Amino acid sequence: MSIATAPLDTNNLEAFWMPFTANRQFKKDPRLFVGAEGMYYLTYDGRRVLDGAAGLWCVNAGHCHKRIVAAVQKQVATMDFAPAFQMGHPMAFELASRLTQLTPGDLNYVFFANSGSEAVDTALKIAVGYHRARGEGQRTRLIGRERGYHGIGFGGTSVGGIKNNRKMFSSMMLPGVDHMPHTHDPAHMAFSRGQPEWGAHLADDLLRLIDLHDASTIAAVIVEPVAGSTGVLPPPKGYLERLRKITEDHGILLIFDEVITGFGRLGAAFAAEKFGIVPDMMTIAKGLTNATVPASAVVCREGIYQAFMQGPEWMVELFHGYTYSAHPLAVAAGLATLDVYRDEGLFERAADLSPYWEDAVHSLKGLPNVIDLRNLGLMAGVDLAPRPGKPTLRGYDVFLKCYERGVYIRYTGDTLAMSPPLIAEKSEIDKMFSILAEVIKEVN
Ligand SMILES: Cc1ncc(COP(=O)(O)O)c(C=O)c1O
Repeated sequence: MSIATAPLDTNNLEAFWMPFTANRQFKKDPRLFVGAEGMYYLTYDGRRVLDGAAGLWCVNAGHCHKRIVAAVQKQVATMDFAPAFQMGHPMAFELASRLTQLTPGDLNYVFFANSGSEAVDTALKIAVGYHRARGEGQRTRLIGRERGYHGIGFGGTSVGGIKNNRKMFSSMMLPGVDHMPHTHDPAHMAFSRGQPEWGAHLADDLLRLIDLHDASTIAAVIVEPVAGSTGVLPPPKGYLERLRKITEDHGILLIFDEVITGFGRLGAAFAAEKFGIVPDMMTIAKGLTNATVPASAVVCREGIYQAFMQGPEWMVELFHGYTYSAHPLAVAAGLATLDVYRDEGLFERAADLSPYWEDAVHSLKGLPNVIDLRNLGLMAGVDLAPRPGKPTLRGYDVFLKCYERGVYIRYTGDTLAMSPPLIAEKSEIDKMFSILAEVIKEVN
C-alpha cells in the first residue's frame, strides 16, 4: 500500500512499538499523558496525576518550568542546529564550564552525547582508549555489577547486570566483561533507613576479579552509586570508598554512572559529592536538561583528557561523537536548568526534604506483602512479595491502581520505585504515600 492510500487513523495505537512496555496489555487499556505542569501530569481523559517518579527520574525541577521552556523557545528560533564536529557554538563551551564547576575534584572535561546509554558507551570507549594512549593497550576488560543498569547499548547492556535485559542477546554481549555481586542482601539490611550498615566488604569481590584476570587487563569498573532501575539499592556504608581505594591501587578507572543520582536526587549536585568520592569519570543525563531536550555527557578527570592530547595537533584525538553532541536546544535547556537549580536552591531543598521522605517511605512498614523498603535522598524502593507463579503482577496491579487514583509511580517487576521532582511539597509526599498505602492494602 502506498503512503498516499494508507488509511490514517489517529486512534490506532498499533504502529508505535513502545519501549520497555508490555505492548499488547498497554494497547488494550492505554494510559496517555497530554500535558504537564509542576508536579502534575494531565491525562487524555482530563485527570491530574501527581508525578511520583519525575517522569523517568529526570524532571527534577518540575514539568514545563517557564525559564527552561523560554530558553528552548528562544534557541530554536535563533539557531536550530550547529555541528559540533570541527565547529562549535559558544553556549556549548559555557555549559561544559558550568558543569565542571559542579563536579568534584579535577573532573574538568565534558564530552556531550544525547542519552544515558550513549554516555555510558562513550565512557567505556574513553576508558579503553585512555589506557591505550598511555601504552597499556592490553587493559580492555570492563567490570560491571549484578543488577546494574547502564542503558541499552551493547556496552551498557554488557556491563549491566539485569537478567531480562541481557538474556535475549546473551551471546552478543561485549567480550571481556565481568561482574561484581550486587549489594542487596535482605537478611542483613531489610528496612534499612538510608545506607545499610552491612556490606562494605562486598567491594572486596573486585580483588577476586583482579586475582582472576590480573589488574593489567582491566580498564574500568562502572557502578551506579545508588543502583536505580533495579529498585533503588543504596550502597552499604564504606562500600564505594573501598571500591575507590581498590581501583586506585590497581590503576583501574572508576566510572560513576550518575544518570539518575546527578542533579540533586540525593540532596547534592552528584552522588560523588554526597559520598565525598572523586571517580575518574561520571556519566550524566536526565536532570542535565530537566529532560526538556535529550542530552547526556561524560565528565572526565584532567589526566584522562590530557592522555589523548598527543600526536600532531591537526589530528582528531578521539574518533567518537554524535551528530547531536551539544545540540543547541539541549545546551540552552541545560544552561537554563542549571540556573533554576541554583536560583531555586533545589539540591538543598532535596536534602532538607530527605528526612521527611524517609519517614514517609518507612511508614509503609508492616503493610501486607511489603518485604523491604529502601531510601536515600529523594529515591525510594518498595519490594512486594511476588504472587506465587505470577511474578511482576502484584507490582503492576499496585502501579495501575495508583495511577487510577491519581499518582504515577514506577514499577519493575514486584518492586516499586519513587523519585519525585525536587520541588515536591510535603503535602504531595503525604498524598503519594497515603494513596500508595491504601492501594497496597487493597491489592492482594
Ligand atoms: C544509571 C543509568 N544509566 C544509564 C541509563 C540509560 O539512559 P537512557 O535511557 O537515557 O539511555 C539509565 C536510564 O535510566 C540509568 O538509570
